Parts: sequence; C-alpha cells; structure tokens
Amino acid sequence: MPTPSEVLWDRELHTAAKHKVYETYFNAWFPILLQSRYARGGITYAEGFAGPGEYADRSPGSPLIALRSALQCAAPPTPRRPVNFLLAERDGNRLYHLRGLLESELGSLDPTYLRSRGLTVDAREGDCETVLPRLLSEHQAWHKPMLVILDTWGAAVSFSLLRRIAGSKSAEAIVTIQPQHFVRFATDPEHFGDNIFGPVLWRDVQHQATPHKAEYIRSQYRRTLNEAAFRYVLDFQLADEKSNLLYLVYGKSTRTTASATETPVTRTSRRLQSNRRHRPQPSDGSSRNMLPAYPTSAPQSRRYATSRCSRPCTSPARRLRPSNDC
Ligand SMILES: C[S@@+](CC[C@H](N)C(=O)[O-])C[C@H]1O[C@@H](n2cnc3c(N)ncnc32)[C@H](O)[C@@H]1O
Repeated sequence: MPTPSEVLWDRELHTAAKHKVYETYFNAWFPILLQSRYARGGITYAEGFAGPGEYADRSPGSPLIALRSALQCAAPPTPRRPVNFLLAERDGNRLYHLRGLLESELGSLDPTYLRSRGLTVDAREGDCETVLPRLLSEHQAWHKPMLVILDTWGAAVSFSLLRRIAGSKSAEAIVTIQPQHFVRFATDPEHFGDNIFGPVLWRDVQHQATPHKAEYIRSQYRRTLNEAAFRYVLDFQLADEKSNLLYLVYGKSTRTTASATETPVTRTSRRLQSNRRHRPQPSDGSSRNMLPAYPTSAPQSRRYATSRCSRPCTSPARRLRPSNDC
C-alpha cells in the first residue's frame, strides 16, 4: 500500500493483526506493571508514530487501544500508581484528530483532572527522533518502566534512538519493520538502512537466495536490537494473504518487570500460540535454544502471527553473522 496522505486511512489486514498483538500484550503489561512495586514511581506508555487514533472504518488505533487497556485493566492507574501516555506524531492534522479522540475518551485533557485519575497525556507534534526523547525526559520517564511502540510504515527507527531507549533500565520496545524496505535497496550505498541497522551487516541480504531474504532481514534486525543493548528479543511475523511480511520486533532491557518466569511477553506469546489451530514444526532447527520456541515457518497462505524469543548473542562472531543457534 502506498503511504497514505489523508488523515484517516483504511485499516489493512496487517494492521488488524498488529493491533491484536498489541492489545494482547497491553492487556498483560498494564496490570502486571501497575500491580508491581515499580508502579509507585509511575510507568510510561510511549509511541513515536502515534497516528490519528483511529482508521477510516472507525476502528481504534494503537494509542486508543493502549489507553482502554490501561483504564479497563484489573489495576487501573491511580495518583499513587500513575501512567504517562506520551505520544509523538509528525503530521499536525493526525495529531489534532488524535487529541480530539483522547479528549472524548477521557472527558477532558486538562492536566489537573487527568492527574486526579492517575494519568498524564502528552500528545505532541514532531519527528519521533527528537520529540520522543524530549517527552521521555520532560516526564522523567527514563529508567522507570516504559513500553515504547515504534510503529513506522515499516522503515523502523534509527539505531541511535533504539540504543538510547535500550539504555533505560526498564525499557521495552516494539518496532515495526517491513523487510521489503531493505531487501530491494541493499545495493544502494546511500540507502538509510545503515542508520537503522547500526553495526549489523544487513546489506548481505543481496547475496541471500530470494526465499530467504526476508528471514535474513528479520534475523539481522533482531541482532540490531541486541546490539542496541536490548537483552531479550522476540519477533512476531505477520503475513497477509499475498504473503507480504511485516515484523514486530520486541526488545526488553535488563530489569525484570514482574517475575523472571512470567513477563507480559512470555504470557502474550503463549496466548497467541494457543490460539493457533496448527503449530508448524521448525524447518531449519533455527528455534533451538530459544525460549519459548515459536517457529516462523508457518504456511503463509493464511494470516497468522508467530513469535519466538531468544537470549542475546554473546559471541562477537555470532553477533554480526546469521546462524542457526542464536
Ligand atoms: C503506521 S502509522 C501509525 C499507526 C498507529 N501506531 C496505529 O497503530 O494506530 C505511522 C504514523 O507515523 C507518522 N509519522 C511518519 N513519520 C514520522 C516521524 N518521523 N515522526 C513521527 N511520526 C511520524 C505518520 O503520520 C503516521 O500517522
């Protein structure tokens, strides 16, 4: 789909699946974090590419999905366990639309009123790369639990922004990346991919056999998150009926949020997996050593989401090269 220019656009199949993943995750994340001891200092939900808040068919966008998830969870925000919603959007008309929806949802965006409900909502116009770090600084969100959604049209974000977020001890991020953005232009020396992948060798995708190119980008982007200092990395693969792929790559920095064995992401992975009718077997053994093992080799003729989780690559040799066991 060409990048939409209007304020609202049609919700694609990829987007509907992405929202399902987000919603499942948010429904675990908010109650776990809000009931943890970390909630006392406040927790943050942030988006760098917030969008207008809804689609042409009026289905809610990610900021609204997150807000509803927080407000309706088992432990909704209170002044003693507050939640910041920090949202950046470059397009002024979309931001205006989003603010209107947030206001109708909450009754008012008056900061004093919101504080009495345990909320801060700051939706700001501008480029994610500059506005998002500024929002996180102004609201003193660094080094407190935060979930950052970086939902671009598929071109991902700069490695330097990722590294900054990963450097915050309790950060989790979900980045959208569409492999086609990088598969097609790997021979272009000016392509922005170097800025996205940082030290990771993504341009070798040009030497991969065509059926393996998207998978190569996926595995290299996971390494990018590891290089950025996200300790745990997991990805969801979304395929539409034409097998166009979109990856949601999740990273978590060091501090444990709830318990070592049951974080929101393991719970979400399990739930999504149990919803699948078929569980395809790994074709290449690539899920060895991954916890939990969720193969991405599912048939692509139907829409689906798969995920898998790994420990970070520690060997310098492995860090920049694809292999089957990390
Ligand atoms: C894929 S949409 C986001 C959809 C939203 N996350 C949702 O699920 O409802 C991407 C949004 O990012 C905005 N955008 C594009 N480039 C941006 C940038 N550099 N900084 C901030 N926002 C940007 C676009 O205007 C668009 O609204």
